[in-house]
Amino acid sequence: MLKKISHIGIAVNNLDENIQLYRDVMGMEFMGIEEVAEQKVRVAMFKIGESRIELLEPTSEDSPVAKFLASRGEGMHHLCYEVDDVDASLKHLDGKGVRLIDKQSRLGAENAKVGFIHPKSTGGVLVELNSPAD
Ligand code: CO
Repeated sequence: MLKKISHIGIAVNNLDENIQLYRDVMGMEFMGIEEVAEQKVRVAMFKIGESRIELLEPTSEDSPVAKFLASRGEGMHHLCYEVDDVDASLKHLDGKGVRLIDKQSRLGAENAKVGFIHPKSTGGVLVELNSPAD
């Protein structure tokens, strides 16, 4: 079901400062910025091997990432696995009693289908399942 680590999401207060760090200081390949309205975040993507680093900056105080930053500060926000079919995977997990945040996929960055698993069911780590748009 899980094919590879798609990306690691990191919550930051200031996207531009962190782009400088990752791109200019650490020399990571910068793929661009995208605003994901549904999740109220601005996202910067970096390529690292076959995986990516996704920096998340909230665009609104009621963004889930704003709440994360307020309670826990900057840091690792979620781990994302690539799957073939997010809805089929969510259905499978639901059937096994895994606690889900999303019972159905929604649209994420780069028009990928995404769905989140509750950290209570995954050792305290927020897990995203993602199947890229064709
Ligand atoms: Co993500």
